[in-house]
Amino acid sequence: MRQGRFEKPASETAQLYSESVSIDWRLYSQDIKGSLAHAAALAAAGILTKDEHEQIKAGLTVIEAEIAAGEFRWERSLEDVHMNIEAVLTKRIGVAGAKLHTARSRNDQVALDLRLYVKAEAAEVCARLRALQRVVLSLAEQHQNVLMPGYTHLQRAQPVSLGHYFLAHIEALERDYSRVFACAERADILPLGAGALAGSTIVLDRELIARQLGFSKLSQNSLDAVGDRDFVCEFLFDLALIGMHLSRFSEDLILWSTAEFGFITFSDDFATGSSLMPQKKNPDMAELTRGKTGRLYGNLIALLTTMKGLPASYNRDLQEDKRPLFDSVDTVKDALGIFAAMLPEVKVNSAKMETAASDPNLLATDLAEYLVKKGMPFREAHETTGRLVARAIKAGHALNNVSLLEMQEVSRLFEDDVLAVFDLRSSMAKRTALGAPAPQNVAAQIARWESLL
Ligand code: ARG
Repeated sequence: MRQGRFEKPASETAQLYSESVSIDWRLYSQDIKGSLAHAAALAAAGILTKDEHEQIKAGLTVIEAEIAAGEFRWERSLEDVHMNIEAVLTKRIGVAGAKLHTARSRNDQVALDLRLYVKAEAAEVCARLRALQRVVLSLAEQHQNVLMPGYTHLQRAQPVSLGHYFLAHIEALERDYSRVFACAERADILPLGAGALAGSTIVLDRELIARQLGFSKLSQNSLDAVGDRDFVCEFLFDLALIGMHLSRFSEDLILWSTAEFGFITFSDDFATGSSLMPQKKNPDMAELTRGKTGRLYGNLIALLTTMKGLPASYNRDLQEDKRPLFDSVDTVKDALGIFAAMLPEVKVNSAKMETAASDPNLLATDLAEYLVKKGMPFREAHETTGRLVARAIKAGHALNNVSLLEMQEVSRLFEDDVLAVFDLRSSMAKRTALGAPAPQNVAAQIARWESLL
């Protein structure tokens, strides 16, 4: 690539500094797929003879098999995946190989490879999101009637069911799914034909290339096509958000596995011990998932920052997009995989959850709503119930142990039907608005997800 313009190769330190093949070799199958489609267009345009086209096809097929088998020698002096493959092809087949790069630049070539990669990996992430949703759904189904305290500010707030809790994660994972799906749609644009930045005087049939590669749209501006990495930024954001969701899920599980909560027990298969304390059983898979999320954010910020000062079209800075992209894809795929494997093995200590859910304070809001139903404005009912809570705390007993007489001292609206307020199951049964955790709602949501997933 330097022959002609330069008298000698770049210094070895410069070569080592600028090479990307140690990272972008992973794009080899996309690169070869792209070259095969490009060669077909070159043949259709009469640039390649039928025989040359055949030689290129056969040569690239062999190279792909060699790479897959780990038998290909990557040369850092050849800079990147594109040059490595083209150089070996040309060494083997001569003139035909030297014609392959006609009307193409590595600038549109790398944009193509990345789009193919993002489309394929987005589909894979979507499949893993769906798989995890199914795992979480089966947990929701198994534990749909286990009651537990719901928390806000990590303080006991109101009762929910564990089924309702798991369904909440399915909602978040569904948003992740739709974001990644939409990202793949935006990646679905063929950039090949943009050349270095201004197309080529040799005009190829871009529609033909798009069809062969499964792209549904063509880029409409060559400058934009080589400089655009929006689809990578977007994917990194979507992956960061998946990480954030799994991190919050992890945080709940970690807390729930403590002796203080005792709501769940991790399976030994997904826990680790301490090198010092013989009694320890640590929830490392969840902690690592929480921790790796920091790196997912970092990858997004890294690329956004790389992009922000770039002039139009291709700049070599763009080579820095691959490390964060590959890392986030690998990390999220692993995290989704470990969650799908780990969750079915989690033991739910439903007795512990239900005991915690039986805290009558969780029904203080129900008590206020009892007064509202008897005509008291909610603000007044809130304050009145608050006074009862304070009395109970002072007396050192639970809210449901305040006597009817004492209740009537704070409001005449209390009657003997008030005792029914403290029935946890009937309280749950009343939460029937769409999205609220009444058992029949939870069952309906489970049925809805079963048909969707
Ligand atoms: N390795 C480069 C990258 O990943 C390929 C494009 C190089 N283009 C160039 N004009 N140097 O971005």
